[in-house]
Amino acid sequence: MKILVTGGCGFIGSNFIRYFLKSYPNDDLINVDKLTYAGNLENLSDLSQSPRYYFIRGDITDAPRMEELIHKGVDAIINFAAESHVDRSIEDPSAFMKTNVFGTFVLLEAVRKVFSKQPIRFVHISTDEVYGSLGETGAFTEETPLAPNSPYSASKTAADMLVRAYHRTYGLPTVITRCSNNFGPYQFPEKLIPLMISNAIEDKELPIYGDGMHVRDWIYVEDHCGALDVVLHHGREGEVYNIGGRSERANLVVAQTILDRLGKPHSLIRFVTDRPGHDRRYAIDFSKIERELGWKPSISFEEGISRTVEWYLTHREWWKKIKTEEYLNYYKRMYENR
Ligand code: NAD
Ligand code: TYD
Repeated sequence: MKILVTGGCGFIGSNFIRYFLKSYPNDDLINVDKLTYAGNLENLSDLSQSPRYYFIRGDITDAPRMEELIHKGVDAIINFAAESHVDRSIEDPSAFMKTNVFGTFVLLEAVRKVFSKQPIRFVHISTDEVYGSLGETGAFTEETPLAPNSPYSASKTAADMLVRAYHRTYGLPTVITRCSNNFGPYQFPEKLIPLMISNAIEDKELPIYGDGMHVRDWIYVEDHCGALDVVLHHGREGEVYNIGGRSERANLVVAQTILDRLGKPHSLIRFVTDRPGHDRRYAIDFSKIERELGWKPSISFEEGISRTVEWYLTHREWWKKIKTEEYLNYYKRMYENR
């Protein structure tokens, strides 16, 4: 099997590529990535000598380039490429519309032009954020109406609708996954967990939005990779699969857990102005993938946090290079704008 991964130099994509090449020693993988601020070749530097791994710098919105790549012959595409940070989408949504919506359209079009002669499975990586926000009880199922609240989640919802339409209209063999919040090695330190860990290591303040009681369902990235593996090989065409970690935690509890692991005081926590349109709670009902494909998460939140803290402690060079003055100024500007 030869698969094309888009956005493989980011957090989940790089973890998936390593997982896939280890699990399938006879398969080949092409990774096409634009290398935005979030794409980092160092995330996969250990694979640079692998004869089964090919990296191509490219933009998924570049239609001729994507057609050329896809028409050369791949069995499946896994579309991770996206602008992925809600706060950035609030600052400037344009790149989100271009990559997440138009980029997905470009890939679908490239597949549409060949799939009758060359069957290509299209696995689209979406998010639980397309469902909007929950009250204190309940969980998102695949039937929950889509109600995105941020420019990021709106762009992901639009992409999901395109994938659905290409399956219904043209019969493209597509599958959509909607996963909850991931954490683990190689996550860019703008997202909650790596930001909290790296700040705590440096004795810097941990900014908690609003009252800190917003709830996310956390999944260790390796568990997400296992779910994508079963969906890629066995997911039913035209279907959506929710993926979750069965680990709902309030943001404040996440920050406190990290500080406790590192032996740092809770006084490092600083409450800051809330994110506009901040979704209150996400929770995932993943009984469909469990029932149909036999997948469930295997790494507890506590075990995942221990592994992740250890990784950030032993990979300071990796994140210190990212936390440049430009990066820190970006955050300063963001808080000032709120
Ligand atoms: P990330 O921001 O770490 O990585 C995104 C990657 O896409 C980067 O390598 C970037 O260079 C690349 N990219 C961006 N625009 C591109 C373009 N136009 N062409 C080619 N490559 C481009 O993101 P992530 O956290 O790894 O998320 C991956 C996917 O998973 C996204 O689609 C995201 O919406 C989805 N998702 C993420 C989470 C999460 O918790 N991180 C949860 C559910 C779903
Ligand atoms: P984030 O990691 O940005 O993921 P998402 O917004 O896609 O769920 O944020 C996770 C939660 O943490 C979310 O409720 C916002 C909150 N948060 C903070 O309180 N402080 C921070 O500095 C960040 C980045 C997020």
